[in-house]
Formats: sequence, structure tokens, C-alpha cells
Amino acid sequence: MNQTMQEQPTAKDHDHPEYSPGLEGVIAGESAICQVDEGEAGLRYRGYAIGDLAGRSSFEEVAYLLLFGHLPGRMELEEFSHLLVRHRRLPEQTQHFVEGLRPGMHPMDVLRTGISLLGLSDPDAQDGSRDANLRKSVRLLAQIPQLIAASYQVMTDRQPATADSHGGFAENLLSLVAGPRDGEIGAAMAKSLNVSLILYAEHEFNASTFAARVTASTLTDLHGAITAAVATLKGPLHGGANEAVAAMLVEIGRPEHVEFWLRDRLAHKRRVMGFGHRVLRQGDARSAIIQRQAERLSDLCGDRNWYQIAATLDRLMLEEKGLRPNLDFYTAVAYLLMSIPRELSTPLFVCSRITGWCAHVIEQQEHNRLIRPRALYTGPAPKAYEPLERRT
Ligand SMILES: CC(C)(COP(=O)(O)OP(=O)(O)OC[C@H]1O[C@@H](n2cnc3c(N)ncnc32)[C@H](O)[C@@H]1OP(=O)(O)O)[C@@H](O)C(=O)NCCC(=O)NCCS
Repeated sequence: MNQTMQEQPTAKDHDHPEYSPGLEGVIAGESAICQVDEGEAGLRYRGYAIGDLAGRSSFEEVAYLLLFGHLPGRMELEEFSHLLVRHRRLPEQTQHFVEGLRPGMHPMDVLRTGISLLGLSDPDAQDGSRDANLRKSVRLLAQIPQLIAASYQVMTDRQPATADSHGGFAENLLSLVAGPRDGEIGAAMAKSLNVSLILYAEHEFNASTFAARVTASTLTDLHGAITAAVATLKGPLHGGANEAVAAMLVEIGRPEHVEFWLRDRLAHKRRVMGFGHRVLRQGDARSAIIQRQAERLSDLCGDRNWYQIAATLDRLMLEEKGLRPNLDFYTAVAYLLMSIPRELSTPLFVCSRITGWCAHVIEQQEHNRLIRPRALYTGPAPKAYEPLERRT
């Protein structure tokens, strides 16, 4: 047998130790961006514990950290924040696309096509250098909230939302997707949104980031890799779960309905959205952080209904299935309290994860090796070819 034949993986190798369905537990590359930490921190971005970042930073600081590799100094942060305001305007071509949207289109599909279109008119479209990719990343971070808000207005025939030019990224985003908020409750909502953006920003080789890295590994352009990532995030097993959790909480309606609803759901072997994680089997450190925000917002808003449904479900899922909530679960409670339209939950995830995706595209291309794994062949054995005239 020659060498090439020996290297072919075949169906007989089903119990091959190197084969892992869904790539579970496989180390698929190196990265210096994020560490899923077994210790107390749970998760670190470029060395910093997620609890410190969520408790003490603005989303802009974390976005800068992920993209440029260090926490910004005062001047760097000012300049970065200024760029995020300056680049908000959508190019004419994208604006035309938005005006042609129709009700019933899903905002994630709009975002996927819109981001691809933004690539066409990007001033650095033909430049794949690190500096150009950083400029593209900053522009995308600034443009995506505008793209989401403008599309949603057209599709729902609502009043144009106004950007908050005085506040930071979270204040602006909240104003765009849920209308302007004032006072103590408005400030608490902006704070919770800021925390959720930080928690959503990065999580090493999750499905959408891996899709972005696979795409980037062919040395194609950044917008192409991000388009692939958005398409991947949409699925309900990944980013689409936060929208599905909100729908589920609304369907349950009241805390006293939880037990019956859950028994019925589990009896039909259906999944409960917002629980479980491929990597975080012992629980998700981010969940406890956003849970505190959701509880605080519930108290401030004088509406504990969503939180109580969620907390009851959380307790029963642990008892019944031994499963703990992931980041999407209590985030849905916070977003419901902020009156963020349910179908914008996953697009808001994009507003944040764009930073992690772009950091990964840049990292991949700086240390590139084409990502091209092998398949375990399970098809038919070799067959003799039959000419068309002899086939029935
Ligand atoms: C995230 C997720 C896809 C990880 O799945 P995975 O690593 O492939 O885990 P598996 O699908 O092998 O599940 C293992 C077991 O737990 C069960 N399980 C996992 N998540 C579950 C959930 N959310 N609800 C009910 N049961 C669940 C599975 O049914 C399976 O049970 P079984 O062995 O009796 O068949 C899965 O937990 C899930 O679908 N969660 C809901 C969607 C979600 O919240 N996604 C966001 C992820 S951050």
C-alpha cells in the first residue's frame, strides 16, 4: 500500500482517537486574545478577568483592548471614541439598500447582507494589511448600530431613532434600538447594556469566530470573514439563543407557569434555550454577572416578573437536568426590561462580538496557516462507473 492510501481516514476509523464529532475538545489553533479560565475569573480578555472588565470598564475600553492588544490610555480612548462617532454615517449605497427593505425580513439576514455591502464601499476595500484591517474594524464597530437601527425603522415603519451624541457606545445603542431613556432607570439600563456588550465581546473559538478564522485563513478580506461570522451567529444553538430565550420567557408568561411548561418541554425532549454550553460544562461565569444586572434592573423598574420566571427556570433546570444558564439566559431578562425588540437581541450581540471577530481575523492573518482539516469518509465503497445508456 502506498503512503497516500495509508493516510486516508476511512469509516473503519470511527473510533480513531483524533476524531471528535463537532470538534469537541479539539485545539484548533493558537490565540492570545481570550482565555477560558478554569479558575475563579472564568474568562479573561488579553489577560484581564471578565469581572474586572465588566465591573470597571466602558465597552469602548474593552473594544480597544481586543482590537489593539492593550487597555487604552486617556488620550487613546478619547481618539477611539471620537472615531466611533465620526464613522457612524452609512455610505449612500448601504442607505439605498436599507430603504428597499420590507417587513418580515429578519434583522440578522439584513445585517449579514448589509455588512457585506459595507465592504464594497469601504475606503480600504482592496487593502488587507493589519493597519487597514484595524481601520475597517473601527468603521464596522461604528456603523453596525446605525445599520441595525435604520433597517429596523424601515421594516417596522417606526419613527427614526436618534443617536445619542453625548453618551458613550451603550447609551447611543440603547437610544437607537429602544428610544431615549433618562433618569436613574435610563442610566441603569445603559450600564446593564454596557456590561452585556463587554460580556458578549469575545469567547475564543466559538462557532462564529471559528467561521471568521476559517474564512480569513484563505487571506480573503475582513468584511467577507465577518459576513460568514454573522451568518453563523444567527443559528439558535449559538447567538440566536438570546432571541429564543426572550420568546420563551414571553411564552411562559408568569412564574407560576414555569414548572408545567418545563415538564412538558422536557417530556417532548425539546431543548430549553439559554442552558448548557459546549465548553462551560460547570457553568458560565458571565451568567452570574448579567444575572445581577437583570435583578437590579427588575427592582429599579418595579417589574420582577421576567426575573422570577428566569430564576425559577434556572433552579428547576439544575434540579431536573443538571444544566446551568449560559450568558444568553439572564441577558434576555435585561433586554426585555429595556424594551429592546426581541428580534434585535442577536443583532445586539453582533454590535459587541464584532470586536472579537475582527481581532481574530487580524490575528489569524498575522500568523496564517490555511485551515483545511480532513473528513472521516462514511460514503459508499468504490464503485465501477456505469455509462448513462446502461443506467435504468
Ligand atoms: C449549547 C449547546 C448547543 C451545547 O451542546 P452540546 O455540547 O452539543 O451538548 P449536547 O447536545 O451533546 O447535550 C448533552 C446533553 O445535554 C442535553 N442538553 C444540552 N443542552 C440542553 C438544553 N439547553 N436543554 C435541554 N437539554 C439540553 C442534551 O439533550 C443532551 O442530553 P442527552 O445526552 O440525554 O441527549 C446546547 O447546550 C444547547 O442546545 N443549548 C441551548 C441553546 C443555547 O442556549 N445556545 C447558546 C450557547 S452559548
